Amino acid sequence: MFNLFISAAFIFFSLTGFVSAAQSKEPEAEKDTALKIVQDKCQHCHGINGEASSAIYPRLAGQHKNYILKQLHDFRSLRRKEATMNEMTANLSDAQITALAAYFSSQPAISHRVRDKQLAAVGEYIFQKGNPYSGVAPCSSCHGENGEGSELRPRLAGQHKRYVAEQLHSFTERDRTNDNAIMFSIASKLTELEVEAVANYVSGLK
Ligand code: HEC
Ligand code: HEC
Repeated sequence: MFNLFISAAFIFFSLTGFVSAAQSKEPEAEKDTALKIVQDKCQHCHGINGEASSAIYPRLAGQHKNYILKQLHDFRSLRRKEATMNEMTANLSDAQITALAAYFSSQPAISHRVRDKQLAAVGEYIFQKGNPYSGVAPCSSCHGENGEGSELRPRLAGQHKRYVAEQLHSFTERDRTNDNAIMFSIASKLTELEVEAVANYVSGLK
């Protein structure tokens, strides 16, 4: 009887011990999964921490988890068409996508130094107040006063200006259509000066 109690207690403690060890290892395991894929594939363009030192690739560091998740699913299902990223995501599982989104969103965001202050000032006006004369809504109403974004509205603060300008063009040209036309209605009203100005301004936000 006593023996039975001991072994029951042993099983109980080893099981609870096992469960809590497994729980505390879960985020670690997810991080390892992500890091391996990042080292094998993503870092060549986006950097090991998502810092993307080359201006032609978007920064992912500090981007929102659900936004990254949506984009990776959209690339994989070809809702967002871009040859490189369609190929990169083709064989990723849902669990790998979730791990990658968690990884990049937890990396510290970085910002750029803005050189052309006057151009950035035009951008600041558009970003904070929109363009009431052509019917452009303030970007800040969705992307946040500091470009910090929220779960499904991407962070723009610190993003490469070249990437931001390119995306605004692809919304206008209907190359990028996975946003349900929200950004088309906005980007298509921007002049070239406004595109460059707002891209400059957000690149310097922290
Ligand atoms: C050969 C270069 C290259 C590699 C490698 C690469 N990417 Fe990309 N990535 C790009 C380019 C270019 C874009 C912009 C696509 C566009 O213009 O729509 C992009 C866009 C993205 C975006 C969307 C960012 C945003 O702000 O909307 C995410 C998320 C992303 N990549 C994640 C990854 C992950 C995860 C990996 C590794 C599995 C990876 N990328 C590997 C080039 C690359
Ligand atoms: C009504 C809300 C709304 C407003 C206003 C808005 N945006 Fe957006 N924007 C979005 C959403 C939502 C997305 C993400 C689309 C998706 O899921 O692919 C987005 C995406 C973007 C992207 C792509 C970012 C990336 O990482 O690929 C850029 C660049 C952008 N917006 C710039 C702007 C600028 C500049 C303005 C102001 C002129 C603006 N937005 C105003 C909602 C908005």
